[in-house]
Amino acid sequence: MLAQKRILLIIGGGIAAYKALELIRLLRKDGAAVTPVMTKAAGEFVTPLSVSALAGEKVYTHLFDLTDEAEMGHIQLSRVADLIVVAPATADLIARMAQGRADDLASTLLLATDTPVLVAPAMNVRMWHHPATQRNLATIQSDGIRLVGPEEGDMACGEYGLGRLAEPADILAAVRAMLSSGPLSGKHIIVTSGPTHEPIDPVRYIANRSSGAQGTAIAAALRDLGAKVSFITGPASVPPPDGVDIIRVETAAAMAAAVSAALPADAAVMAAAVADWRVANASDRKMKKDAAGTPPALSFAENPDILRDLSASPRRPRLVVGFAAETDHVIDHAQAKLAKKGCDWIVANDVSPATGIMGGAENAVTILSRDGAEEWPRLPKAEVARRLAARIADALE
Ligand code: C5P
Repeated sequence: MLAQKRILLIIGGGIAAYKALELIRLLRKDGAAVTPVMTKAAGEFVTPLSVSALAGEKVYTHLFDLTDEAEMGHIQLSRVADLIVVAPATADLIARMAQGRADDLASTLLLATDTPVLVAPAMNVRMWHHPATQRNLATIQSDGIRLVGPEEGDMACGEYGLGRLAEPADILAAVRAMLSSGPLSGKHIIVTSGPTHEPIDPVRYIANRSSGAQGTAIAAALRDLGAKVSFITGPASVPPPDGVDIIRVETAAAMAAAVSAALPADAAVMAAAVADWRVANASDRKMKKDAAGTPPALSFAENPDILRDLSASPRRPRLVVGFAAETDHVIDHAQAKLAKKGCDWIVANDVSPATGIMGGAENAVTILSRDGAEEWPRLPKAEVARRLAARIADALE
């Protein structure tokens, strides 16, 4: 599957570096050529000899390895690759990427490149959750870098939590997805997902029960068909998928701005449960009970209708898909929504509590378009997503 592809693999210095050896083996077995680069610290965990023996190529470790090459060797080295993979990416290496440092071979290659980059973080759970690391991750993701993992589990340091390097097989899957030549390769698709939070004051907000599960599955299915996915998510309870560009937002207004900033796109799938109203008189301080016990009166303002505005926009994607989560008269409401919102398809579903769909693992949807209605059986959300992604691929052909 990866025949003719060249991967530049940057191995950072962490106990998980031993897994990079297995990754090299899997990449080569899949047909890829691997050019290995090790940071100085990586050499404390695995030897350049084993890395180069498995890769079947010279391993680069110092900036000065390149002085015997043609001028600008580090730029060439990063540009001949189809993909740069950083595994394991330590907290320090991620911090240096976020800052744009170029003080060793690995960071210089990452700064000098315009090749897509996939980062597989591995670090202690506290380092992972530290706000500085989370800030750095958000920065590199907004620079277009994709992440795979980390996973939750026991750590070499005896702690438990998020921070384990993704399994080599999962890193391989993410590499395949990024280099895939599926029916959606070269296509950019925006997916909105999850609920929005509309603040009442700095500590309180209005939300809804959307888990983000269906939007997340759709983003993963589109990615698997080769699309570049901008995944714009409210505060969902399921984690976002690997191998997509993640843009985290809280409010409907922020989601609208993020959708607009992600344009142009070939298609948009608006699976988010966007709040229709925000609190117009939200307080910038925590609201207090008053002595008389009078409850505060909230007043509401209408949020932008992201789907309707996008459908009417001069920068409208070729295909715009909306959702209609209803509790009654599902098809009638969805039909009306198709006309009112001006989108191409509506994915309608019944979210009344008895169905168990909201927050559940399955979904039963009907796809409405101007050509009519197509009712799908009750299916796992991942299967609904795969069918929808295949339908989108057909429509964009
Ligand atoms: O109007 P209603 O919320 O039922 O419409 C659902 C569809 O519209 C979903 O696709 C949702 O993502 C989108 N929507 C939106 N902006 C809003 C409200 C809903 O994009 N303010």
